Amino acid sequence: MRQAGRYMAEYRAVREKFGFLELCHHPDAAAEVTITAVERLGVDAAIIFADILLVLEPMDVGLEFSPGDGPLLRRPVRTPADVARLAAYDTNDALAFVYEAVRRARQGLSGRVPLIGFSGAPFTLASYLIEGSGSRHYVQTKAFMYEHPGAWHDLLALLARLVNSYLSAQIAAGADAVQLFDSWVGCLSPDDYRAFVLPHSRAALDGLSSRVPVIHFGTGTGGLLGLMREAGGDVIGVDWRIALDAAWSVIGPDRAVQGNLDPVVLLAPPAEIRRQAAAVLARAARRPGHIFNLGHGILPETPVDHVRALVDAVHELSQSA
Ligand code: CP3
Repeated sequence: MRQAGRYMAEYRAVREKFGFLELCHHPDAAAEVTITAVERLGVDAAIIFADILLVLEPMDVGLEFSPGDGPLLRRPVRTPADVARLAAYDTNDALAFVYEAVRRARQGLSGRVPLIGFSGAPFTLASYLIEGSGSRHYVQTKAFMYEHPGAWHDLLALLARLVNSYLSAQIAAGADAVQLFDSWVGCLSPDDYRAFVLPHSRAALDGLSSRVPVIHFGTGTGGLLGLMREAGGDVIGVDWRIALDAAWSVIGPDRAVQGNLDPVVLLAPPAEIRRQAAAVLARAARRPGHIFNLGHGILPETPVDHVRALVDAVHELSQSA
């Protein structure tokens, strides 16, 4: 999940000098933010400082991040004609600044912890393209999907090609693993996931697993885990709305599982954080292939010391017999 963010004073200090997108476009600063988060938190992996929506920026949809309101697209996709106008672009040129950040972060980490690259998944990217922002019910996204299935599949196929080459280039630049964030796909029924999303997520991940481990994550996906596994990923990420052992029994013993502490638990007193971390570890029951993680990103109001306390608790509890 996100580890750098506004909850961290070091991050806020860097953000005084750069706008959010501007920071993403400065490889040195992005690498520094990535590494500072690892050092401050004591976590076992780094995630490159970037955003899932960067892959949409070269499509000329007017991507902005306004403080407080989150991402906004000035020119959203509302009709099949809008889809036809979207051009594929060369991810090697347009997103070169991300690969440079990956190279510099990896160099700065000098093997201390692995570095995770990432992208948004076709469905979640399409939801931002169509809604023009975050959404509660994804009404416009689903309406588009049902009304214009041909244009929908064209759009997701285009996004899948871009995501596949973007992730592939992050691996070439040195990412030790990659994560596909299908953050909002949990709004779909299993039948709709299979018909409208699965082939495109599979295409987005095609060929990557043979190079590095691939993590496939979404939230609210309790009813979709078997299908997400079918779409691909060596590791399936789950949020806290399903018990880790229940999730794992659907996903199957031949896949690793990442998760799944509720990020809001980090606002609780450290004793409760430790108790809840122990409960997640108990459900993992020391099976190989559990990656302890939050079920979603850290909230801005989270005390950094509480994150540190969680990291310490997980290290301690997963070492003792
Ligand atoms: O540790 C790191 O370096 C994290 C890098 C990272 C960011 N975004 C930076 C970011 C990662 C892994 C993401 C993923 C991301 N971005 C997701 C998938 C994860 C998830 O939460 O499901 C999504 C849906 C987005 C889209 C996005 N970006 C939203 C909805 C927002 C606004 C919400 C908010 O907290 O303001 C962003 C902005 C964003 N991306 C911030 C950061 C650090 C905060 C922006 C700021 O500094 O003002």
